[in-house]
Amino acid sequence: SSAEKAGYEHFMIKEIFEEPKVIKDTINPRIKDGKISLDSINLTSEDLEKIEKIYIVACGTAYHAGVAGKYLIEKLARIPVEVDVASEFRYRDPIISDKNLVIIISQSGETLDTLFALREAKKKGARVLSIVNVVGSSIARESNDVLYTWAGPEIAVASTKAYNTQLSALYLIALDFAMKKGRIDEEFYKRIIEELRNIPKAIESILENKEIIQKFASEHYNAKSIFFIGRGFDYALSMEGSLKLKEISYIHSEAYAGGELKHGTIALIEEGTLVICPMTQDDLMEKMISNIREVKARGATVLAIAKESNKQAEKAADVVFTIPDVDSLVAPIVAVTPLQLFAYYMAVQKGCDVDKPRNLAKSVTVE
Ligand code: G6P
Repeated sequence: SSAEKAGYEHFMIKEIFEEPKVIKDTINPRIKDGKISLDSINLTSEDLEKIEKIYIVACGTAYHAGVAGKYLIEKLARIPVEVDVASEFRYRDPIISDKNLVIIISQSGETLDTLFALREAKKKGARVLSIVNVVGSSIARESNDVLYTWAGPEIAVASTKAYNTQLSALYLIALDFAMKKGRIDEEFYKRIIEELRNIPKAIESILENKEIIQKFASEHYNAKSIFFIGRGFDYALSMEGSLKLKEISYIHSEAYAGGELKHGTIALIEEGTLVICPMTQDDLMEKMISNIREVKARGATVLAIAKESNKQAEKAADVVFTIPDVDSLVAPIVAVTPLQLFAYYMAVQKGCDVDKPRNLAKSVTVE
């Protein structure tokens, strides 16, 4: 009903607007006296020393949070991480033992493949830490440790706010592990915690500028195929942006790592092809700029998602949607919101059933 939507036209946009609040709910209670405190996770420094490798296992949007999580945990805690879709993991006799930690990510806590991947991991002796939204769900109940995302009920089939909170939870875990393993210093730790606390404000300012994306969508909703390219964290974001677009607007789309473009995808770029480029990683900026030049030289129209201060992006892309100047490390939690808005407005423009896209279910509890 419209009352449930609190005046919004769809649950999806209502849920995107809840992001600042739910990120705060997921992060703030876990920060006490300037330190991360994950009461629900009983992993000591010694436990962490025994972990040789982490597996992150999930489906759909939660899997894409996991891809960012791999980059993040490896970068900060220097523990090798493998990330896998649950339906592949569970059937490939994964090489795991009690020397592994398996991180399961699921909004519903009921996705069948994810639940069976969890059981497989436990059977092989791994410890299972899950990042779950629905309290008391099967995955939450069967895990050794649970870190809840406090995203609240997510009604729209296309996941939005849950993804931002899954990422938030992964930041808390990665920073906590990195500190416990002595991989980062106090000053860096404090600075990133501060950055995390400022994310809700950054997303609020993105939401205030939503008309820019709405207008862009109104000019491009007839696109037949759209490419997303990014590097590092922005590659993970590209996958999620592309999935969101496919799910609700039915526009064909692919996500590619910037460096992989010339190994195939670039053959598909022609006059007028739309390419979306999240470019939030300072250390990869030059490389992304050359990727943009490559696609533009073949006629592509480029929408970049870049930080305010990024003057290079302004010069290289056709349109830039700017995000506040957050640290590149935490940028994914902020930069996914414009991609969600883009998918939303494209679908609205096309007259699609945004909250209930064809053929999709909110929670896949069958094989
Ligand atoms: C379905 C939903 C997706 C979701 C995926 C995993 O495909 O439509 O939005 O990302 O399942 O769901 P989970 O509840 O495990 O996060």
